[in-house]
Amino acid sequence: MSQDPESIATALVASGKGILAADETVPTLTKRFDTLGIPSTEQSRCAYREMLFTPSGIADFISGVIMHDETIRQKSAGGIALTKVLSNQGILPGIKVDTGAKPLAGHPGESVTEGLDGLRDRLSTYREMGARFAKWRAVIHITDRLPSSACVSANANALARYAALCQEQNLVPIVEPEVLMDGSHSIERCEEVTANVLHAVFGALFEQRVLLEAMLLKPNMVIAGKKCARPASVQEVAAATLRCLRRHVPTAVPGIVFLSGGQEDRLATVHLNAINRLPESKPWKISFSYGRALQDPALEAWHGQDENLKAGQQALYHRARCNGAASLGMYTEAMEVDSASPSDSTHRHEWHDD
Ligand code: 13P
Repeated sequence: MSQDPESIATALVASGKGILAADETVPTLTKRFDTLGIPSTEQSRCAYREMLFTPSGIADFISGVIMHDETIRQKSAGGIALTKVLSNQGILPGIKVDTGAKPLAGHPGESVTEGLDGLRDRLSTYREMGARFAKWRAVIHITDRLPSSACVSANANALARYAALCQEQNLVPIVEPEVLMDGSHSIERCEEVTANVLHAVFGALFEQRVLLEAMLLKPNMVIAGKKCARPASVQEVAAATLRCLRRHVPTAVPGIVFLSGGQEDRLATVHLNAINRLPESKPWKISFSYGRALQDPALEAWHGQDENLKAGQQALYHRARCNGAASLGMYTEAMEVDSASPSDSTHRHEWHDD
């Protein structure tokens, strides 16, 4: 595979494939383990990540994996670096490089993502360790008053400075401005805020001379808040999301990979599929970079037990396969009941080889 950033960005959105976000911080993964009574140790987190990275045939649907700093330094039970475990299967290793969303001074209820200090050196080290792309997540809250323009511009500027540093170090930046689903706002309000945020982010990327051809955008879908009295239909979400992206994302960007943001796992698949099925032209690949929507069923099935390894892998494989189909607009509900086994290659190829 060609190693230049433009080729890597294109490879990450290869036809029928998307990204597995497995970059939860230790406290976040510990919280998820706690709800299932799984002890969180360096070893159990490593075993979990190895389980996610190794289902047979997973590379048919997963182009890249985003790791956390702890994971990129870990080895499989067989003593192989997890980065190598991925690259041996043709999966591109990626790394989360922000150091988290921190309270924005003077702006109660808002945050700015930190991690720019020393970033150049950290990126260079990660590249030597095998990373080929990176991720930085900005977090935007919606209320009647928020977000403030100070919050949007501070986060857009940090995302753009991160992206420019990544490209300098030969890494593909995934630029993730996440407008949260928390709250009771309408889908219209989400569209308005997402539009403003994307406009600010692409303005900042231009100012910092980021090469759009060598990056990916990881946005939220345009969706009503979790507590909104009138949840939006699948068709409304698809139409509003594509309209917003067509208005604000330049065509030079090779791919848009959504976060799942707390959507129920099947709904995240259904939404992605509906967006890809819309008749409007889509100048970029539209795929997934899901965390919870790919991992939740796998974590539940695995439950921290070695004897459930295959069940966990099958659950991940299944969601990855469904989302791979949705990235082509070829997902059907029938796929949910067709529990194709990872080793059944006839099932595996039935829908995306044409
Ligand atoms: P979710 O899909 O669970 O939102 O996670 C994606 C991600 O990488 C958040 O930064």
